[in-house]
Amino acid sequence: MQSNGDERNFLIEYYRICRQKVAGNKYLELFADEKIRHSFQVVGCGNYIMRHEEVFHRRPPEFIKYGYETCLLHDIGRFREIELKNEHGLNHSCDHSQLSYEILSEYPQFAVPEILLPVKHHGHMIEELYRDADYLRLPPLLQEDVEHLAFLVRDADKIANLYLLKNVSRKSPEILHHLFLYHSEDKRLTPEILESFLSGRLSDRTKLKTASDWLLNYLAWFYDTNYLASFDFCSKTGCLRNLLNLLSEYIDSPADYQKIENCILHFITRKYQQKKG
Ligand SMILES: [Fe+2]
Repeated sequence: MQSNGDERNFLIEYYRICRQKVAGNKYLELFADEKIRHSFQVVGCGNYIMRHEEVFHRRPPEFIKYGYETCLLHDIGRFREIELKNEHGLNHSCDHSQLSYEILSEYPQFAVPEILLPVKHHGHMIEELYRDADYLRLPPLLQEDVEHLAFLVRDADKIANLYLLKNVSRKSPEILHHLFLYHSEDKRLTPEILESFLSGRLSDRTKLKTASDWLLNYLAWFYDTNYLASFDFCSKTGCLRNLLNLLSEYIDSPADYQKIENCILHFITRKYQQKKG
């Protein structure tokens, strides 16, 4: 496929082809619709962060363009993933960050470290970026740029999803519920997931078993959030309160819920003090 210079149409074309291939499978159609919407929402969140964070001010226009393109195209591999699920079954899993990276690598206008590296690792632990041989061979100033852009897409991706979660409730339509919680309304919290949360860690998604586990891990995203603007976005739009309310409905132990709420509020207050102090 050719990119005509308009990145939006480039992305929409991938979505359109995917949508055609999975036509008739209601779940995958909705999955694809959700992902194109999400891509534009991540752009909106990325713009919010770039407007509010000092590090993006006084940067050359091409740096801001990389930020925009990284946010817009980070999930382009989702459309390939959805096609693969259509071919091999819903349980077929693959690394959509890697797929996005592979697709963008084929286009010279996107094949620059400022886009490729943040996209390749947007769904991984950040340590994978720092270990990447392509990252390690960059000069220090370029490494710094890549890191800022990686933080940007990681934050924008998370806060866009946290914002969407506002539409999920215990009464959500089944598909929406499934897209976010993956499982039944099982309220039990896996002790291992609670333990990692209380010690300030995200859990590996493969360990998440119940809806409560998924919800708690969404809350753990705050541990992996970099810019204060992202926290501000979540508190101003009510995403944080909404997620806490949803968790309190799911988790059957009020004592566990209280520990969780105290832990995250304490973490966020400390983060503000550190950054502002
Ligand atoms: Fe995303």
